Amino acid sequence: MKTLVVRGGRPLCGTVFIHGAKNGVLPLLAATLLSNEPCTLDGCPEITDAACAAEILSCLGCRVGRCGERICVNAADGTGVRIPRELSGKMRASVTFLGAMLARHGRAELFAPGGCVLGERPIDWHIRALEALGVTAETDGQLLRFAWKRRRGGETELPFPSVGATENLMLAATGAPEPVVIRGAAREPEIAELGCFLRDMGAEIEGEGSDAITVFCSKPLHGANRRVLPDRIETATYLAMTAACGGDLSVRHTDPSLLLPVLEALERAGCTLRCLDDSIRLVSDGRLRGVGSIRAEVYPGFPTDAQAIVTAALLRAEGLSEMEDAVFPHRFRHVSELRKFGADVRTVGSRAVIRGVARLNPANAEVTDLRGGAGVLIAALAAKGESRIANAELLLRGYAALDTYLQKLGAEVFFA
Ligand code: EPZ
Repeated sequence: MKTLVVRGGRPLCGTVFIHGAKNGVLPLLAATLLSNEPCTLDGCPEITDAACAAEILSCLGCRVGRCGERICVNAADGTGVRIPRELSGKMRASVTFLGAMLARHGRAELFAPGGCVLGERPIDWHIRALEALGVTAETDGQLLRFAWKRRRGGETELPFPSVGATENLMLAATGAPEPVVIRGAAREPEIAELGCFLRDMGAEIEGEGSDAITVFCSKPLHGANRRVLPDRIETATYLAMTAACGGDLSVRHTDPSLLLPVLEALERAGCTLRCLDDSIRLVSDGRLRGVGSIRAEVYPGFPTDAQAIVTAALLRAEGLSEMEDAVFPHRFRHVSELRKFGADVRTVGSRAVIRGVARLNPANAEVTDLRGGAGVLIAALAAKGESRIANAELLLRGYAALDTYLQKLGAEVFFA
């Protein structure tokens, strides 16, 4: 187990270059299974979730090569239809290979997906929407077995714009004999990115980024190359860190248009922001003010993945702030960890109520989940003195070069 040691209380100054998106690269890697021809993805972050996805492709028989931020996949021998328990359980996105395996092989076997514990995370909507296309699902209580003997296209509807379910349907739909229309689809930028990559591979795609997506493949998909979109949550994390600690940060290789609600909240808290097409500059004196209520929602609303991060930035903000989460109503395991730093934050139903305190104290805390852990790191960076954060390897699931990036900004952090 890794521990992150943080000697906080310093402003953060300098420039960070944002990596490709964790939640963008994972579905693209699953999509590479759809063609017998080589695919190349650039801008792949060096994070453990991407390594896990590459391992899944290898275990399905694909040849996977990595050189820096470039991953090359040749799925010509990708004949495997089962993801072993160990790999299924390593991350939530293991379930995204289901759609790709069904499209390619007409069957798939996997175990319950793992990933961050954010409350209940069933896959019932994935299954029900796939069943509408003729997929059958059965389980012995452990292994989930899917078969797609009578393939058909047509309409399928999601009761809630689930990101994972939309991705699975888009991937599976490439194996349907007629067009598939996904109603109630998620509109996250990572979904639009997947639509673009499938189009690069030769699929006919309409409506990606809207709540109705049409997918049709009249011929086998070919190989394609793509650069992964920038990580909007990594961007939000470095901005929130600087907001909380004070400083002057330039974020490059990002896209401000993908996180407008976060920028709006940080401006309301008193930060000065200047945005260009692919960069954001944030200046903060660390003395923030409360922002009232924020409600995390599906895109284009305030992202649930920035909920814990912005909560942590507001711990010393004068006045009251409330953070509600409508996507994961129980995503507040980080709150008890933040309290260890002397923060006045508590949960009330599906809200965190934050009353700003004058200062935070160093503490020994732990990472409960990826984004909650980023919130704990923000508290430690803002607290003068030495904090130790246990279970810190979880942060490496979604943040590449975290310690070196922070050191370059003037922070004193290191993994022990
Ligand atoms: C994706 O998770 C992201 N993960 C999450 O990011 C992100 O928080 C989430 O979308 C929402 O934006 C990846 O892309 C790998 P959902 P996913 O299906 O697909 C419920 C991070 O920190 N639901 O949109 O799992 C579910 O329980 C991670 O980077 C069902 O009830 O999210 C949740 O309450 C964490 N049944 C809500 O819907 C289903 O069949 C949204 O989940 C599917 C989902």
